[in-house]
Amino acid sequence: MIPIKAENLSFQYRQNSKIILQNIDLTVDKGEILAVAGLSGAGKSTLCYCLCGIIPHVYNGLMTGNVYINGKNTRDLTLPQIATMLGIVFQNPDNQLFSFSVEDEIAFGPENLCVPRSEIERRVTETLKTVGMQEFRHAGPQQLSGGQRQLIALAAVLSLQPEILIFDEAMSQIDSAGKKMVRDMILKLKEEGKTIIMVEHDFENLALADRVLVLRDGRLAPFNGQLL
Ligand SMILES: Nc1ncnc2c1ncn2[C@@H]1O[C@H](COP(=O)(O)OP(=O)(O)O)[C@@H](O)[C@H]1O
Ligand SMILES: [Mg+2]
Repeated sequence: MIPIKAENLSFQYRQNSKIILQNIDLTVDKGEILAVAGLSGAGKSTLCYCLCGIIPHVYNGLMTGNVYINGKNTRDLTLPQIATMLGIVFQNPDNQLFSFSVEDEIAFGPENLCVPRSEIERRVTETLKTVGMQEFRHAGPQQLSGGQRQLIALAAVLSLQPEILIFDEAMSQIDSAGKKMVRDMILKLKEEGKTIIMVEHDFENLALADRVLVLRDGRLAPFNGQLL
């Protein structure tokens, strides 16, 4: 089973004449870490939205071609169905966090998937430990710094234990000690056979990847150190 496959994928937002993604073909193998680089505005987040079904299910626009998650066309899946297979950490943690406490934030996903209470409790404790945020369990996400909010957004996605993870510049505001911890976590996820797509600029983070592609003019190409 191929975790992620895009076939001749093109996308254009409604009311924006620019073609953001152009005839993209992409296969991501199980256990692979794929990094995607590219200039700001190149369409990296848009690509993430296509790979996780937010496009076409949430954003309006013209999508042609197909995306398959574990062999199933995203057009035929609902977002809750996708959530059982794939988790995404958005570029801006404020688009992800909406609960009153860190604990509730992390429990929210598993609660919606009807995970038993004791298992949710275990996952909250474990994921907070993974991102080094145990002491903030009862804090409100709004009291936290940008980097801390990114760590909580990561924990919230990890608590769903998806087989496929997308990190859209998910470490951009995290300090260097935190980044080191997240890199270790990503390598551990890979060892467990998870499939990871990360949008990244940071060379230390890019070094984790099995393959680095650059998104440029709506197309993906092998990365040779040049974004332009
Ligand atoms: N909701 C939207 N409606 C119209 N245009 C958008 C929307 N979101 C992003 N865009 C445009 O799509 C292009 C790619 O954006 P994005 O995918 O966020 O790029 P990146 O993540 O590489 O910075 C940009 O030109 C941006 O202005
Ligand atoms: Mg982006």
